[in-house]
Amino acid sequence: MMLHAVSQGVSDIVCTSHVTPGIAPFPIDRYYAHLEEARAFLAGQGIPLRVYPGCEVLYTDAAARLLKNGQYPTLAYSDAVLVEFSPDASFQEMTDAAKNFGIAGYQVLFAHIERYEALRKGKNIQILRDEYQVNMQMNANTVITKKGFFEDRWIRKTLENGYIDCVATDAHNLHSRRCKMQECYEVLANRYGIDTAEELCGGFQRRFLGI
Ligand SMILES: [Fe+2]
Repeated sequence: MMLHAVSQGVSDIVCTSHVTPGIAPFPIDRYYAHLEEARAFLAGQGIPLRVYPGCEVLYTDAAARLLKNGQYPTLAYSDAVLVEFSPDASFQEMTDAAKNFGIAGYQVLFAHIERYEALRKGKNIQILRDEYQVNMQMNANTVITKKGFFEDRWIRKTLENGYIDCVATDAHNLHSRRCKMQECYEVLANRYGIDTAEELCGGFQRRFLGI
């Protein structure tokens, strides 16, 4: 997957394993051992790819406390956390998450916001952005795949309105959910110009994470 990402023009990867606070324990020692193994492989092969720790937190009441206790890695050693919800999560749950992580001192990035029905309603995305300082991520695959008239229109409008801070691969493997960053970059560059493509595919991430 790392070699494939490099072939897609990727220079930095935050390795965001899933964590489910209060539901299943996260093997953090094993996680860091695997990260070091990945780094040793890259160094040994002379591959110019940087890999950072991180995780994707399924929001639960226990999430901010367990993160604060050091049971999960933040994104690339920063104070930022990638947060996801079950697809039927309410807007209230999302504002609770933003508040709880904010109080605990974290910057919040919501993962694949296109999945949530609650964010299709009214000004919910703007409210989370403006009043709760939530940053928003969309999956590369969502940007490049046609999904029907209404869905495609929502995706385009959300991007055009500047509600998406960054895109990410959400890669899980080399087949059904592989890294499609190159294609995503090209679609964004053709549609919105190079500057927007650069910002969404790396500019924001570098500033947000300080990498
Ligand atoms: Fe996710």
